[in-house]
Amino acid sequence: MSTTMNQLSYGGLVMTMNNPQIRRIVQDLRSAYVPTKAYRKLEQNFQMLLDQRRADLAEGITSSVRGIVLIGQSGSGKSTAIRELVKQNRALIASNPEEEVCEFIGLQVPSPATMKFVGAATLNALGYPYSGSQSGPVVWDMVKRQLELRRTLFLHLDEAQDLARYQTDKERQAVVNTLKFLMENSQWPVGLVLTGMPDLKNIVNQDAQLARRLYPIEIDRLHDLRHAKSVVDLVKGYTRRAGIAISDELKSESFARRLMHAADYEFGLLAELTVQSITEAITSAGITVALQIKHFAEVFHARSAAIDGLNPFIAEDFTRIRARDVLGGVSV
Ligand SMILES: Nc1ncnc2c1ncn2[C@@H]1O[C@H](COP(=O)(O)OP(=O)(O)OP(=O)(O)O)[C@@H](O)[C@H]1O
Ligand SMILES: [Mg+2]
Repeated sequence: MSTTMNQLSYGGLVMTMNNPQIRRIVQDLRSAYVPTKAYRKLEQNFQMLLDQRRADLAEGITSSVRGIVLIGQSGSGKSTAIRELVKQNRALIASNPEEEVCEFIGLQVPSPATMKFVGAATLNALGYPYSGSQSGPVVWDMVKRQLELRRTLFLHLDEAQDLARYQTDKERQAVVNTLKFLMENSQWPVGLVLTGMPDLKNIVNQDAQLARRLYPIEIDRLHDLRHAKSVVDLVKGYTRRAGIAISDELKSESFARRLMHAADYEFGLLAELTVQSITEAITSAGITVALQIKHFAEVFHARSAAIDGLNPFIAEDFTRIRARDVLGGVSV
């Protein structure tokens, strides 16, 4: 999120975010997580893996562990889902990297994702600054040692599709072997949580052993007919939470289809556009406003600078607009 919410406001009467009531509403909306089908599956698999591992530890058994691979397009909500998972399980699993025991540690795959770079980035995430020149296998020995010292049960690699980018076949296999090795029966096996774009499927499926050790979860794209009603309910839910009214034009499934199209059928983007539209409405007209389609149109314009003909909330024939191209893939 790089654009500040203030920038989204350019209505006539600008009530800035300095208004504490408005600021509180916006903060609340932005922190609200809407549980999805994929999230529930993620939570279930995670609990199962965590229970198994705790039971093994209690009995002093070390067996191979399993992990999770969460796949979805950009903006589907992968990183947010993992953040929510960690937040919801704060009481069950230590996840503060500042503390000695850190049972869940997350990082973004660096580029280029050579074995050595990924190892060094993992050490850094563990609070063990590393910029030495040892070879990949030596760095990974250090990683394994640190993971054991910190009692780490899960290692989350975000943007894991990058593990295959700009790599020779040999390097790619070395990375896959290293990941597999982490979960294998050893003194301290660590469960992997990989999140990434659909290309990640190819990396995982390239190695049958790795695939077998990971439970796959996919964040499905929205479907214009199947999800229209739940999208209407979602927008209503957000307005209710904000304590503002909603105009009738937003209660129709045809609006829901425009919104899904504008969000390129990705749930996360859709939630983000809705939160920003409510922010736009209340910062420009106050909390007595009723949310209208024009607020969505303004947010889409602010994010893309698109002319009306390329704005899914304005154009008559919106289905021909390639929303992702118009938005330029930027995350606001
Ligand atoms: N379940 C949810 N409830 C509410 N908002 C959500 C939800 N999931 C995602 N979002 C919002 O959607 C936006 C995009 O989500 P996120 O960054 O997690 O996507 P991503 O799949 O990790 O994308 P990328 O591949 O580009 O990193 C964020 O603004 C996030 O707050
Ligand atoms: Mg992400």
